[in-house]
Amino acid sequence: MSLSAAGCIIEPVTSELDPAEMGTRESYALLNSIIVPRPIAWVSTISAAGVANLAPHSFFTISSVDPPVVQFTSVGHKDSLRNVRETGEFVVHIVTRELAELCNATSTDFPAELGEYEALELATVPSHAVAPPRLAAANVALECRSVGEHDFGGSVVSFGQVVWIGVDESLLAGDGQVDIRALQPVSRLGRDEWGEVGEVFTLRREPYQEWKERR
Ligand SMILES: Cc1cc2nc3c(=O)[nH]c(=O)nc-3n(C[C@H](O)[C@H](O)[C@H](O)COP(=O)(O)O)c2cc1C
Repeated sequence: MSLSAAGCIIEPVTSELDPAEMGTRESYALLNSIIVPRPIAWVSTISAAGVANLAPHSFFTISSVDPPVVQFTSVGHKDSLRNVRETGEFVVHIVTRELAELCNATSTDFPAELGEYEALELATVPSHAVAPPRLAAANVALECRSVGEHDFGGSVVSFGQVVWIGVDESLLAGDGQVDIRALQPVSRLGRDEWGEVGEVFTLRREPYQEWKERR
């Protein structure tokens, strides 16, 4: 609270929050609705017993360029994490608009012995370099070997080096990169909200030398 020039009390327009004072559920939900949009890793794994598993993880990003490494976070100790720990490999698929409902269906908490592929009768194709299968319907597959994890206690970040990349040729533009309009990836927002790609615009990054000369 502060005073205006006229001496009136001005109510603050911000909420100042200490995560340590909030419940875990509350801080999780708030951060989840602030850190948006999040790309979704649709993670395929296989257990030591041979059960293939598929589950979405939106705490996901690229973590290293050289070597190429991606990461996903298991909030709690879920089947995907346990499988990576057991067999050391995973495949990340990108979730497209037409697969969003199916992706959501794979987030049901099936028991470990019943994989989502089997439960939902999902067709698979073999991966090129790793044991977990690819989801046949997916048009991007990043095949990864585990290169470690960071265990925060309640959540574990799992890192995987990308050892093979499978991309549907129709998604590739002339520059060898994926055309976002063709890919149509969906993202995770807060609550049960999902997002599609809206307007796409381009901004060129200006080199310092050019910036200096322009001033
Ligand atoms: C779009 C979406 C994103 C999700 N992101 C995460 C995540 O980042 N980390 C996580 O632990 N659970 C996440 N979940 C929930 C898991 O998918 C869910 O708990 C699932 O049952 C875990 O499967 P598993 O036990 O086979 O690994 C997400 C669910 C959805 C629908």
